[in-house]
Amino acid sequence: MSNDNNQFDQPIAGHEYDGIKEFDNPLPMWWLWTFFGTIIFAFIYFIHYEMGAGPNLDQELKMDLATIKEVAAANSAAATTAGGGGEQPPAADDLNAVIADKARAAEGKTIFAGKCASCHGNEGQGLIGPNLTDKFWIHGSKPTDMVTVIAKGVLDKGMPPWETQMKATEINSVVAYIVSIKGTNPANPKPAQGVEDKEY
Ligand code: HEC
Repeated sequence: MSNDNNQFDQPIAGHEYDGIKEFDNPLPMWWLWTFFGTIIFAFIYFIHYEMGAGPNLDQELKMDLATIKEVAAANSAAATTAGGGGEQPPAADDLNAVIADKARAAEGKTIFAGKCASCHGNEGQGLIGPNLTDKFWIHGSKPTDMVTVIAKGVLDKGMPPWETQMKATEINSVVAYIVSIKGTNPANPKPAQGVEDKEY
């Protein structure tokens, strides 16, 4: 920037080092306004965030953590209504209530026909897998025992684990169905396997 006949073009007397002279020219307007701008911004920022309504860092952290909690709660609620989604343990569904619910047993019947009948027979009379209508049980006669054996399977005996392919609530429904066919005496039953539970 060179200004002819500018009063500021005069070097400051006595300020000369190694041939470099110092001038007392005004700072360019754009520079000054950028500078003033930062001061004004800092002022407004301080008033708003430190003294006024704006949240400070602590408050922002609290707000963010609250949002995380809300989202997590909404997700687990969604997982529960969607039927476990694999994240809920089987106990999330009250097994006794499921067993008493005819609609769940009917749902279980459909699942059984699709996934289990090939080994346990269309009526649960047993084929490759044991008869599920009699009093004899290898892995226990309690509904919770059934949930466990269905979920985990008995791989070396040919009973696949279902926990990766069925929701916990679907396993419960199928247990409701198995309980519902108790003592039905279907044709061509597979001979008894396991221990008799006279109470069953
Ligand atoms: C590929 C064949 C096969 C399929 C498919 C199969 N199972 Fe099994 N299941 C078996 C065999 C074999 C056993 C016996 C395991 C043993 O001897 O320990 C068994 C055992 C069981 C038992 C325990 C019986 C007892 O006496 O304790 C239950 C309950 C059961 N299965 C339910 C199911 C359900 C429900 C399904 C469908 C979701 C299913 N199974 C699908 C082969 C199968």
